[in-house]
Formats: sequence, C-alpha cells, structure tokens
Amino acid sequence: MTAMKQTKILFVCLGNICRSPSAQGAFEYLTQKEGVADRFEVDSAGTGDWHLGEAPDKRAQAACKRAGFDISHLRARLVKPEDFTHYDLILACDSNNYRDLQTMAKGIEGASDRIRLLMPYAGPGAGNVIPDPWYGNDSDFDSTVRMALKSCKGLLESLI
Ligand code: 4NP
Repeated sequence: MTAMKQTKILFVCLGNICRSPSAQGAFEYLTQKEGVADRFEVDSAGTGDWHLGEAPDKRAQAACKRAGFDISHLRARLVKPEDFTHYDLILACDSNNYRDLQTMAKGIEGASDRIRLLMPYAGPGAGNVIPDPWYGNDSDFDSTVRMALKSCKGLLESLI
C-alpha cells in the first residue's frame, strides 16, 4: 500500500505558549478521537521570541487538561522561513499574527494563499480571531480552549 500524503498544518500565535499550542493540542485530540491522526502532521510556532524552548503557559496547560487533553510536552519555537514551503496550511490565531506571517512570506511562491485565520473555520458568528489571553484569568484560558476546539472541529470537517 502506498503511504497516504499527510496534510501538514502549522498553528501560529505570538508567544507559542498559550493559543497555538492549545490549538495544536485541540486538533491532535480531535484527530485521535476520529481515528485520523496519521493523516496529519501538526505543529505550532510563534512570531515572537520571548519564550523559545519553554513549555506552554501553566494556565494554558491547565485549561487544556480541563478540556480533556495534555499539551505539557510541547515546546515554543519561532516561525521559520522553511515553514512557508513545508506546511499546507499556516493558521493564524489573530490579525497581527496573520499580518506578520504575510510579511514574512513575501516572495515565497504560493505561501500567501496557505496563510489563513484559524477562527473562521468555526463557522459564521464565531468571530475571526482568538484574543490574546496573556493578561487574562482562568476563564479567559477556558475560552481560548473552547475557541480552539470549535475552530479545529470545523477545520477537521473541512479536511476529511
Ligand atoms: P500566545 O500568548 O501568543 O497565545 O502564546 C502570549 C504569550 C506571551 C506573550 C504574549 C502573548 N508575551 O508577551 O510574552
């Protein structure tokens, strides 16, 4: 049997310690539940370099655990130029991330079209962005995870 081509997805936020690792964890949780995890290669990255190599923020880890999945093994990294040719979809959590990614991808053939906002995959009325929860409380982190799960559910439905 020939190996199936995996769809490669990169989730991106600012610090890569709150929203994008939550989205990566949410997507992996959903693909495992559906038995389709082997059809995807998933990672997350940040546009800012303050937390490189760090595990996700404890508040994000706790909110994901409350939702039923573990992101403690993930480590923060920066978006790098090769990401724009490697990934099929590069999904930004907010408009600043989106703009920064479009700037970084200038001149790389086809990259601009592969950069999208994540939240619209949740469908109409869900909003376009996942707000930065960094200055928020536990309830804001729960909201981040709910948005990650909702958008990733729509994303997965659009791909299988
Ligand atoms: P994230 O949240 O972009 O969802 O990972 C943030 C994490 C860290 C900072 C800002 C946002 N920071 O300013 O260090």
